[in-house]
Amino acid sequence: MDALAIRFSPRLLQTELVQSCALLDGLDLAPLDSAEPPSPGTPVLYLLAPGESAPAQAGTDSYVCVVGDGAEDGPGDAQGGWLCIGSSPSLETFVNLTRTRWPFIPVAMAFARLRQEFDAQALVLDQLTEVSLALSSEHNYRRLLSLILSRALLLAGCDAGSLYLTIPEEEGPPAKLLFAAVQNDSKPTPFEETELWISKSSLAGYVAATGETLAIEDSYTIPREAPYRFNRAYDEQAGYRTKSQLVLPMLNQKGEITGVLQLINKKRNPSAILASPEKVEAEVVPFDASTISLMKTVGSLAAVAIDNNRLYQSIERLFEGFVHASVTAIEQRDPATSGHSLRVSVLTVELAEKAGRVERGPLAGLRFTPEQLREIRYAALLHDFGKVGVRESVLVKAKKLYPFELERVLTRLETARLCAERDILLRQVERLMAGAVTPQEMEAFARELRERTAKLDRFQEVILRANEPTVLPEGDFSALKEIAAASFTDRMGRRRALLEPEERAVLSIPKGSLSEEERLEIESHVTHTFHFLKQIPWTSELREIPEIAYAHHEKLNGRGYPRGIGAQAIPVQSRMMTVADIFDALSASDRPYKRAVPVDRALDILRDEAGAGLLDEALVKLFIEAKVYETTRHLSNLALAP
Ligand SMILES: [Fe+2]
Ligand SMILES: [Fe+2]
Repeated sequence: MDALAIRFSPRLLQTELVQSCALLDGLDLAPLDSAEPPSPGTPVLYLLAPGESAPAQAGTDSYVCVVGDGAEDGPGDAQGGWLCIGSSPSLETFVNLTRTRWPFIPVAMAFARLRQEFDAQALVLDQLTEVSLALSSEHNYRRLLSLILSRALLLAGCDAGSLYLTIPEEEGPPAKLLFAAVQNDSKPTPFEETELWISKSSLAGYVAATGETLAIEDSYTIPREAPYRFNRAYDEQAGYRTKSQLVLPMLNQKGEITGVLQLINKKRNPSAILASPEKVEAEVVPFDASTISLMKTVGSLAAVAIDNNRLYQSIERLFEGFVHASVTAIEQRDPATSGHSLRVSVLTVELAEKAGRVERGPLAGLRFTPEQLREIRYAALLHDFGKVGVRESVLVKAKKLYPFELERVLTRLETARLCAERDILLRQVERLMAGAVTPQEMEAFARELRERTAKLDRFQEVILRANEPTVLPEGDFSALKEIAAASFTDRMGRRRALLEPEERAVLSIPKGSLSEEERLEIESHVTHTFHFLKQIPWTSELREIPEIAYAHHEKLNGRGYPRGIGAQAIPVQSRMMTVADIFDALSASDRPYKRAVPVDRALDILRDEAGAGLLDEALVKLFIEAKVYETTRHLSNLALAP
């Protein structure tokens, strides 16, 4: 409910009293003949011209004031009484005259004025809050600068403006400004980022050097004695007329000048286009005190936003550096997988982006924000970090037997050859000494030597072949059984096996190069990765990184590792990473235990695993059909760039 309703005679419309009341907020002010009735219960003040009377329906809470004659006799029809005052009273005179007679009227007016001031302040506060929120939520540096300028121009009702940033020096005050943004609503203005020396002779330079604010009524009539000049080059070239200007420093919390805001041509009507000098003359006004004050606050908000943004950028760079250093650390321990982390991250992010555009089928509705894509990228870059916790010999194990183990087996075979030779020679000598040797017998000795040596050579071939790891379970290891059963007698007369049971077990590994124990050790890298990533105080936007990386070797049917969780518990980001990880592990030619699998074959393997319920079928299909796998072709075998 309004505090007071005022119904005035149309004859009083132009009086100072009515005009002043119109500026107040919270009064129900309307002409006498208004169709709008005062709300019930609101006292009504009738402002009448001499000779007029209040409407017949005026109730008990109505008061009449005749403005303009000061006559003794007034209309007697207002229940609350009447008052005659002289012509053209000011609002202040009116308030003083009514103060003793009707004290509620000055109170209502004072209240309305307060409310008006409050509303104006609240509006400014709303605008500042809105600007502050907009600035703090923009993380893109270039967009932030444009946003600062456009919001400042909007709030100040200006036609054009520029934004300069101070370029910090290692020591001492900044010596240069960066011309960082420009906007002109009336003339399209080309923009090129340039650096300029801070000089007091230019407006922006003067403000950057002194920290003073310049409010200039007309840029073309700056007094000669002023240290700064307005450069008309732009105006002349663009056919523009710069008149009023506000050039102010953007001060951060420490009172340092982060930049300079230059606002040009404040307009009566903010949407006016200043297409001609006449239009400039008609529309452009000087900057008033409240706009200057508002812009100083906007400048400070902008400075803080720019500082925060720079801090944010440096944290980003720091973090990127940390991630790259971590990836380098993993890949230096295991140079054979160099570039794997980078390629998996590129493939996973590409798959996520493609999945985010799918409109039908099981992937429909999957959308990732830029922050979520960043989360996926970091998780993929760091997914194998836990390999730092795995013994290097296991990590780089290329064959089933470690080189020293193979050497031992080969030496044993060589010993067996020598022993066979020695054995036959001894027997030959024995026969020769007995003097009874025949040429046939000698031939038999030579044949035996050839056969025993050939057998050992064959064993060696079998062992060398069995020592090669395979990508898929394969191999016929029955030949190893024969070798394991074979033995020879050494010089000391001891029977010795050609192949120890452990060696046979290792050579019989059906897939890859690792024993069960070693496989478990390698698999522990996932748990190491998780514990390592858990230690990092991620921001809320990146908090899923440990969980995403933790599930990169899980399978939808629960047969993965380390936890054996099923489809429901595996995040979709991890499923995507798994597809990328397997594809890269297969197709890269950098694994110690295998040659690269051709791309087509690698894709077939992914299809097979999806068909067997291990991998997400829809993601594998998308990976293949959208040719996601081609994204890293140019990165093959490239180490992560520093
Ligand atoms: Fe892994
Ligand atoms: Fe991996």
